[in-house]
Amino acid sequence: MFAPEGPTLRELAVQALSSVERGYDLLAPKFDRTPFRTPGPVLEAVGSLLEKTGPYEDGLDLCCGTGAGLDVLARVCRKTVTGVDFSAGMLALARQHAPNAAPRPAWVRADARALPFTAAFDLVVSFGALGHFLPAELPALFGQVRSVLRPGGVFALPVFAPPRPGSGAFWTLLGFDAAMRVRNTVWRPPFVMYYRAFRFGDVLRELERAGFRVELHALPEFGRRADGSPRARVVAARRLP
Ligand SMILES: C[S@@+](CC[C@H](N)C(=O)[O-])C[C@H]1O[C@@H](n2cnc3c(N)ncnc32)[C@H](O)[C@@H]1O
Repeated sequence: MFAPEGPTLRELAVQALSSVERGYDLLAPKFDRTPFRTPGPVLEAVGSLLEKTGPYEDGLDLCCGTGAGLDVLARVCRKTVTGVDFSAGMLALARQHAPNAAPRPAWVRADARALPFTAAFDLVVSFGALGHFLPAELPALFGQVRSVLRPGGVFALPVFAPPRPGSGAFWTLLGFDAAMRVRNTVWRPPFVMYYRAFRFGDVLRELERAGFRVELHALPEFGRRADGSPRARVVAARRLP
């Protein structure tokens, strides 16, 4: 599952017994060699899509980690790019990765549930982080995203179709979530990371409730499932005035 230079099983266990923030601080130096970093083809496909829907002026990568989404923002934003994450360790790595990027990125340490910005952005992206929020947190989270977007601004996030029931991937994700639920019942602080805590429809409904008009864009690069539905889509939620 991991490259040889990736985290050891012992390191992963220690990280998983920490809070989310502390866990990522510990994982940061090896994060880019884990499958948790959003893979290049996903970033490439989202960048191509946003090039068609853009251009944008000011972009924010929500839960930016080590900066995977930075190239996407740099590609489609003409003025500023900002990454926000609550892990100081992940942000330190992000800073190292992009010393000469243009536009020059700003890295901000903050909780996505309490963003320290005014409506300063016309694009917010987020990659691979939704599983860190409980269903009950979605209204507040989407409310925060809305508050940092200008009217008409877009919140874009890639979403993959769930694995086919009974497939290997299906059981792997189910097993992961079950282990996390047991861990969070018996251990404090909690480490919230679930692959199947909410359904696609829940996300769309909460976005609409938070004041967005939602569009779905298939990512043709990832093909279609047997029933014809796309394997990957970008949810593009436009802030209503
Ligand atoms: C799986 S990593 C994804 C990082 C990056 N977006 C990527 O695709 O490679 C999840 C990131 O979300 C951050 N995160 C989780 N919950 C957060 C919160 N409430 N506020 C800010 N950052 C958060 C973690 O610190 C971590 O860097």
